[in-house]
Amino acid sequence: MKNNKKRVLSGIRATGSLHLGNYLGAVKGMLELQNDDDYETLYMVADVHTLTTPYDVEELRRYRREVVIDYVAAGLDPDKSVLFLQADVPEHTELAFYFSSVVSMARMQHLPTFKDKVKQHPEHATMALLNYPVLMAADILVYQAGFVPVGIDQEPHLEIAREIARKMNAQYGTDFPEPQRFATKGEYVPSLTGEGKMSKSVTGSYINLTDDLETIKKRLAGVPTDAGKGSEVPSEGGVASLLQLVSLFQGDEARQQYEQAYTSEGLRYQDLKESLAQAIYEELQPIQEKRAELAADSEKLDEIIATGAEKAQAIARETVTEVKERMGLL
Ligand code: TYM
Repeated sequence: MKNNKKRVLSGIRATGSLHLGNYLGAVKGMLELQNDDDYETLYMVADVHTLTTPYDVEELRRYRREVVIDYVAAGLDPDKSVLFLQADVPEHTELAFYFSSVVSMARMQHLPTFKDKVKQHPEHATMALLNYPVLMAADILVYQAGFVPVGIDQEPHLEIAREIARKMNAQYGTDFPEPQRFATKGEYVPSLTGEGKMSKSVTGSYINLTDDLETIKKRLAGVPTDAGKGSEVPSEGGVASLLQLVSLFQGDEARQQYEQAYTSEGLRYQDLKESLAQAIYEELQPIQEKRAELAADSEKLDEIIATGAEKAQAIARETVTEVKERMGLL
């Protein structure tokens, strides 16, 4: 590394508009590290990773740019962070192939994230899907990044990245760091259905960053609740999801007040949902305004993407050259 800054890399797949899970679990951490002078931050759109599950070509073409718009709208600043598209830096896929030579097929096949996706799309159990974590390791290590702001669901993938770093270092004498996750308070945002996590692939589970107040209200209205009164506040299900969102958007004190109401006079979900919707919208509205500005300026967007690719590639090329030398390819 040329400077003393700690390097950070993160990415989000180009599968559509970002939701609150992406925002709280990943983007908030990305922002925090961007705005800390100790870190050098690189943030990409994982468009190549989007090919690992069934997708529409025209949608991908659109979404890969839209995620950059979302990034900038949410506060990622092309003057402070390198913002780029994964496919624009082919060194990622090149390094992923070299890395795949130190990873066993069995290790990949047993990953819960792989098994889940195969269950979701049984007709799409491809090599690309099996390779998902190897490409992710290459994304991170091609920049020698030691910090990765992502949600808790990505921990198994980071473990693979650390294993690959160790194996490469032991076998070929490279000096890859073992990347650590940078966690946020929203590292696990629950689903609005009350089951599992908020996810793009589960209808009714999410709120998008682009949702207006009415849509947010409608989505919250669908969260399953109970009678609002009892001796113990539920720790799972729709009520727990709502309380978690209250804590994330309105603070722990607001949550405690609702919890107290639950075990005494009773909790009115209509009021909770109304004020939660307002709080969420208050945070999203400025993002939406900024989003509209950049969406209307495709030249500026092109420039951000081109500059980002150039900066990222300059770093990535150095790593790949070193790896090729050490592996006997140069
Ligand atoms: P993706 O697109 O599935 O998720 C993007 C980010 O959003 C976080 N996330 C959540 N966090 C909290 N609660 C949730 N309900 C929730 N849902 C999603 C994810 O943890 C992730 O941080 N594999 C990555 C993309 C990637 C990447 C990388 C990330 C590719 N290469 C290199 C970091 C470094 C992913 O899951 O994307």
